[in-house]
Amino acid sequence: MANKAAYGALFALLFLSAIFVTVICIIGSPRDGLAHHESFPFWQRTIVYQVYPRSLGDSDGDGAGDLRGISSKADYLHGLGVGTVWLSPVYPSPMADFGYDIADFVGIDPLFGTMADFEELRAALHDRGLKLMMDFVPNHSSDEHQWFAKSKRREEPYTDYYVWADPKGFNETGQPIPPNNWLSVFRGSAWTWVEERQQFYYHQFLAKQPDLNYRNERVREEMKNVLRFWLDKGVDGFRVDAITHLFEVQDLSQDEPVASHSGTDDPLDYGYLNHTLTLNQPETFTVVKEWRDVLDQYPDKAMIIEVFGEEIEEVMKYYGNDSVPLADFPFNFLLIEHLRNRSDLTGFALKDTIDLWMDNMPEGKWPNWVLGNHDYGRVASRFGTDAVDALNMLVLLLPGTPVTYNGEEIGMVNTFISWEDTQDPQGCRYGPEHYQEFSRDPERTPMQWDNTSFAGFTKGNSTWLPVNENYKEVNVKAQLQAEESHLKIYKELAALRKEEPFVRGHVAYPVVTFEIFSVMRYLEGYESYLLVINTSEGEVEVDLHHHSNVELPPSAVVILRSVTDTSNSTVPGSVVKLSELILVPGEGLLLNLIEEE
Ligand code: NOJ
Ligand code: MG
Repeated sequence: MANKAAYGALFALLFLSAIFVTVICIIGSPRDGLAHHESFPFWQRTIVYQVYPRSLGDSDGDGAGDLRGISSKADYLHGLGVGTVWLSPVYPSPMADFGYDIADFVGIDPLFGTMADFEELRAALHDRGLKLMMDFVPNHSSDEHQWFAKSKRREEPYTDYYVWADPKGFNETGQPIPPNNWLSVFRGSAWTWVEERQQFYYHQFLAKQPDLNYRNERVREEMKNVLRFWLDKGVDGFRVDAITHLFEVQDLSQDEPVASHSGTDDPLDYGYLNHTLTLNQPETFTVVKEWRDVLDQYPDKAMIIEVFGEEIEEVMKYYGNDSVPLADFPFNFLLIEHLRNRSDLTGFALKDTIDLWMDNMPEGKWPNWVLGNHDYGRVASRFGTDAVDALNMLVLLLPGTPVTYNGEEIGMVNTFISWEDTQDPQGCRYGPEHYQEFSRDPERTPMQWDNTSFAGFTKGNSTWLPVNENYKEVNVKAQLQAEESHLKIYKELAALRKEEPFVRGHVAYPVVTFEIFSVMRYLEGYESYLLVINTSEGEVEVDLHHHSNVELPPSAVVILRSVTDTSNSTVPGSVVKLSELILVPGEGLLLNLIEEE
């Protein structure tokens, strides 16, 4: 009897699992769409829009953007449909690295305004239903932070707030020799001598950005208090800067090995060494978890982490796992790292790049897509203006959270900056011959609002970086008035992505060739969408049926198309045949599939 009952139970169990597996296959695994979430946290529902505070809007005419200037654009941001604003640093700073050198983690630099201006901005965004994320820069402070001044003097408890080391020795002329060969990301030794203390301090970036010592419990506590300070001010989360540099090995006497395929013969170039001792040390994850715990004391807060240039396995570690959740997501920079220019942009490359993220992402985690930021060239300059709309379509319609850098919605291009006008320390340190290879100024120029002087960015008579010459054609006002524009497409995409097939639908890639990439989003009970992209620089006529790995209907209705397509047959609303689709160079065409009766 007992046996029979056991067999019965086993049979029932097998039967139920079979049904379960079938259901999972029908609705698709979380990999081909996203796990069904009852309620989405805000960072899964919105676009994250990065504001570079110096360059969005200048309210006081000094030529540099400021908080009031950003507040004055709150309606624009709301109208754009982005949902979350990430503000690059606005803290007091000598601006050696344009705010990424912070002299007070809990203040506002007068260049940007006051704490009251900050609170107004937060209110302006919140009133419109937008979230606000701050830039959290934990790895280093400015050398003008009072902690550093006290640390130099060995004033307790600040003595060990930074990473200090004795010289390895002294050279023939009596100069102190750094403890090891470690290099700064911005070129040259990562060690700077302090006469007063007779020791070197470590700086992963500029000498004006001394690294904090995370082996010191007090430092950890101070930085958690920084998070609490801004959370208490009502911010909705943080983008965490340069996390991989947080720790270095404790034994400072070891040199890093020379990299075998670095592509540089300049021993002062960061790439010259293999950073085995200064990057991704295991202690980092413990500290990130401490920050997560701080955030989790508050409802609905987000943590996004900047991890650049690492192997995919290393990047994925920053998601954490179910028992140790860390960031909501580490930035996905693969579209920047793998696709450097137009010749890298092929259907196959896009597919591989997307798969690389999706296949390595831990189960149940959320993807994200970054096309550009204040550290990398403009999308239009890297891939060509004709590809701007297609790439926006791609990142806004894939499953996950897109991150847009201000100005990308109107297709701004890199601005030429002369050596005399160059501001970025990363450019300056390479000198007049090579600064253009490294300077980040070209993507940091003022936002182009209209065709008046200085593109409507300032009422003053100069700007901190020159405005791009193309502002008379490429500006927000012109694009709002135009029949078709990058901006209009962006806004339509931002609205469209709120529809169910994009929110929680499945994803498939029916046609992938050298020249064509396509993404399908679909959900039982809703219309299916198909985005087709011509990645090539020539016109392409394609028979999608011939290449497709799923069955496609004969025709579809055009929902959106790139501004470069002027054909009468693809005007939005037109019906097109999928067996003879014509796409102009770089074009994205978003279609609604017409299911046959
Ligand atoms: C990454 C930031 O994006 C970059 O602008 C900055 O220079 C470094 N971190 C150092 O903080
Ligand atoms: Mg100003």
